[in-house]
Formats: sequence, C-alpha cells, structure tokens
Amino acid sequence: MTYKIAVLPGDGVGPEVIEAAMIVLNEIALNAEYIYGDIGWEFWRKEGNPLPERTMELMHQTDCALFGAITSKPKDEAQKELAPELRGKGLEYYSPIVKLRQLFDLYANVRPAKAYPGNPLNYKDNINITIFRENTEGLYSGVEYYPVSKEIDEVFKENPRYKKFIGMDKAISLRIISRKGAERIIRAAFEYAKNNNLRNVTVVEKPNVLRETSGLFVRVAREIHKEYPNIEMWETNIDAQAMWLVKNPEKYDVLVTSNLFGDIISDLASQLVGGLGFAAAGNIGDNYAVFEPVHGSAPKYTGLYKVNPIATIRAVRMMLDYLGEHEKANRLETAIEEVVKEGKVRTYDMGGDASTLDMAKEIAKKYAEL
Ligand code: NAI
Ligand code: MG
Repeated sequence: MTYKIAVLPGDGVGPEVIEAAMIVLNEIALNAEYIYGDIGWEFWRKEGNPLPERTMELMHQTDCALFGAITSKPKDEAQKELAPELRGKGLEYYSPIVKLRQLFDLYANVRPAKAYPGNPLNYKDNINITIFRENTEGLYSGVEYYPVSKEIDEVFKENPRYKKFIGMDKAISLRIISRKGAERIIRAAFEYAKNNNLRNVTVVEKPNVLRETSGLFVRVAREIHKEYPNIEMWETNIDAQAMWLVKNPEKYDVLVTSNLFGDIISDLASQLVGGLGFAAAGNIGDNYAVFEPVHGSAPKYTGLYKVNPIATIRAVRMMLDYLGEHEKANRLETAIEEVVKEGKVRTYDMGGDASTLDMAKEIAKKYAEL
C-alpha cells in the first residue's frame, strides 16, 4: 500500500527541519508519496490566508500530515504585513495549526517526554512520560468576548456572586469542557497505557477551584478508569503537578489533562528531557493526524541550519506508529537513541556544532546499520 503524506514545511526553520526529516524518511524507504503543501505567514501576507483552500484539499486526500512550524504575529502586525491589495477587506489572521486541529477534530495532542540516555540536557535520566492534552476545547475553544455585550452581561444577574462584573470593562474567554471531549481524550490516554504496558495514568486538573469544568473531567476519568482495572489512576491538581514533575518525574507514565493545562505542563516536561530540540507532538483524531515538532519557527535561527532536527524526527517516529509501521518506528527510535548516546554528532543546543542536516544524516546512517 502506498501512503499519501502531506508535507507542510511552513515558516522560519520549518523548511530546514522538514528537509532533515526527509533525509531520514528517504532512508526508511517508506512506501509513500509525499505531497508538499502551503501553510503559514508567507501565505497570509501574499494571499490573506495562512491555510489556503488547496492545502485543506490536500489534507483531505492524504493519510496524515507532517508539519514544520509557522510564524504567528499579533493582530496589528498581521494587518501591516498583508499585501497592499488585500488590506481593508476585513481579512483576519488566525493560527492555521489551531484551525487544523479544530477542522479535522484532532482531539488528542500526544506529547512524549522521554530522556534519551547520554543526552547532556537531561534533567534526570529515567524520565519517560507521555502527555495527552485535549486539543479542541477547554480554554482554547475560541469562544471569547470583547467588548462584552449587554446580552451577555444579563447572565451575570443570575447569581449574586457575579454582580460585581456587571458593566465592567472586561474580556471573557470561556473554558468549555464537554463530556464527549473529556471521554475521548481520557480513553485515548488509558488505551495508550494499556497498549504499552504502562503502570499509571494521572488526571491533572483543578476541581477544587474549577468545580464544574475540572469536576466533570475528573468524574469522567473515574468512570473510564473502571474499564482499566490494571492501570493505577492518580488525580492531581495542575499547580502541584508542576512541582511534582520537577521533584520526581520518573514516577509518571501518562498524564491526561485539558487544553491549556496540557500546553503548559507539556512544555515543562519537554524541558526535563532536553527542551524544544527534542519535543515532538502528534495531533490525532479518529480520521486524520498531523505530526509536528513542538517548537515554532525560531526566527533567530532561520536559514542557519543550526536547530536540532530530533524533535521533527521524533514526530516522524510517531507518524510511523500512527500508520501502523511499528517495526520501522522502533528501529528509528533506536537509531535516535544510539546517536544521542554516542554523542559524536550534536547540535548547538546539546553543546555541539553539528548542523541540522548533519544530525539527520547521522540518524539515517544509524538506521541503515541497525
Ligand atoms: P520557538 O519555538 O520558535 O523558538 C524559541 C527558542 O527555542 C529558539 O530561539 C531556540 O532557542 C529554541 N529552539 C526552538 N526550536 C529549536 C530546535 N529545533 N533546536 C534547538 N533549539 C530550538 O518560539 P518563539 O521564538 O516563541 O516563536 C517564534 C515564532 O514561532 C512565533 O511567530 C510563534 O508564534 C511561532 N510558534 C509556532 C508554533 C508552531 O508552529 N506550532 C509553536 C510555537 C511558536
Ligand atoms: Mg505550546
């Protein structure tokens, strides 16, 4: 079977890390057709749309996508950089990756944080945590108000505790947690734990304060946990969990949480195992998936071929698993492990001077030898 894979390099260092990933993919010789697509700031400026319609169509025709990184800028700068003929037409910049997650319902943001032995950047050597972050709702639902209309202010009259907010100059972002949203991310976390023989799943929320939203999330977790009696489930609060991840990260196998908490805690976890040069993510839904390094376009390094491609190569590994190519995925994982352990080729973040492509070539070479 020939896979069809959309390749979306994007902005800044995006094309460089994708070039590196393709060196590795060529060595792996996956039976796949790679189709490149347009995404990012450049297309906002030229076309007024960072995710052109043709790219969406490409995604509909492919099995999954490998995405580099994009540049995003604040509202006023976005308008200033728009091509002159497109200005004043009411076009608004939006984050294409956030839109992709919503459009393709890529509800699971899966972010492994694994310490490769021998990585000089490891905080501790025995960390191997996989974070399941809900990716479509929570505080990133996109339901926001400013200014707040009188109709919405009416709602505040219902409860004496809300009265102080009436008539204030204020902005509102809604944290929406649905039962369905909670169920599917929590189930994904337990399934992952089961399939990988892991011991524990920790539900990270804040139900003592966010009584309704976190409350629902935790209740759903308790229900689902009943189906997985062999896996231990722990409930923690997000603030304490941040501390415990620093204190004893080796205790945790799988964390599952809502959107914003997951965004923050996964960045924290990634720094325990080498930082953004190592952090990869899968955005996985029932019908499509997008794999990416967690980092952005790193403008400071653009064009220098200096950044670490391991984050993107780990995204390739996750993509192989998603496609069911587990043998190739495991072999690639071993190749990364070996190259990190040997320490001969290191990019700047690891204290070396190897280029982005040198690192990719070394991993490809190791893959071939295994
Ligand atoms: P960034 O992730 O692009 O870079 C921050 C710093 O992290 C870099 O200056 C560098 O020191 C380090 N770094 C990043 N990637 C690395 C790698 N592969 N190897 C070694 N070190 C690496 O974040 P920043 O500077 O806050 O944002 C730059 C642009 O990227 C912004 O326009 C932002 O909106 C966008 N962005 C896009 C994301 C995406 O495409 N998913 C995610 C995060 C930010
Ligand atoms: Mg983030």
